[in-house]
Amino acid sequence: MNQKELQEEIRRLLRKKNAILLAHYYERDEVQEIADYRGDSLGLSIEAARTDAETIVFAGVHFMAESASILSPDKTVLLPRQEAGCPLADMVTAPQLAAAREKHPEAKVVTYINSAAIIKAHSDICCTSANALRVVGSLPGAGPILMIPDGNLARYVARQTGRQIIPWEGCCPVHDRLTAAAVRAVRGLHPDAVFAAHPECKGEVLDLADFVGSTTGIIGYAGRPEVTKLIVGTERGVFYELQTRYPTKTFIPAAEDFLCLDMKLTTLEDIHAALIERRYIVKVPEAVRIPARRALDRMLELS
Ligand code: 13P
Ligand code: SF4
Repeated sequence: MNQKELQEEIRRLLRKKNAILLAHYYERDEVQEIADYRGDSLGLSIEAARTDAETIVFAGVHFMAESASILSPDKTVLLPRQEAGCPLADMVTAPQLAAAREKHPEAKVVTYINSAAIIKAHSDICCTSANALRVVGSLPGAGPILMIPDGNLARYVARQTGRQIIPWEGCCPVHDRLTAAAVRAVRGLHPDAVFAAHPECKGEVLDLADFVGSTTGIIGYAGRPEVTKLIVGTERGVFYELQTRYPTKTFIPAAEDFLCLDMKLTTLEDIHAALIERRYIVKVPEAVRIPARRALDRMLELS
């Protein structure tokens, strides 16, 4: 089968099996092209919670499929590549979190959705990059907040809200690699362009940004009439949505190697095999799912 035929066959199988394909904006173009829904982490969670399809095929990484299983426990959730993970999510373990809670017993725990289900289960509330400011703003009082596992996001939220935030020292290795010097160099080449950055980037990079937001936020910013040339400070997969929506605008990567290899693992062949062989099923056990759901629901109520 050539690519077009494979895409059509996947669409046929999705219909036949009452399944939907959800794809993160960082996935391969040919996967995003046939998805029922493309989105950022927040949008994908909302979609996973409200779909009435029997099966959710998740073109994303493991924590996203877990979130879909937490929110839609009666559905079959398939992750076509079992090893598609998120290094940031792996930067906090349950024993580490328990130790941090003991050290800061008065702190509320705000957990980025890029985390394992067991971590969400031990958290007060979740957030994504799209709603982190709103989530932190919703917490009453002025007490300390332990934000895990992304330190860059935590420091950004602390600066924006003035809240007392204890950052975890994790980071997204893809976003954290971008430096202010690299951004200045690209800006030098394109002095007429504006720069948008994802809050997983370092503070020194965010300081240079005209706009900071999640992938959906950046796509929305790109749609503003005054934005005609944009340096994009996030993973390159987002170019598919940017160029589809705004074909007359110019988009420039902040770095040529701005790629998340985990997000690029899932191919059309993997999705096809996942549908035929019902693999790989991601199912969160009830003992973890119920408390994890509470933390996700608190977030979704604010979205
Ligand atoms: P958003 O989808 O929230 O923009 O996050 C980016 C990301 O790194 C997802 O893994
Ligand atoms: Fe994880 Fe970063 Fe890849 Fe997102 S881009 S999945 S945060 S490693």
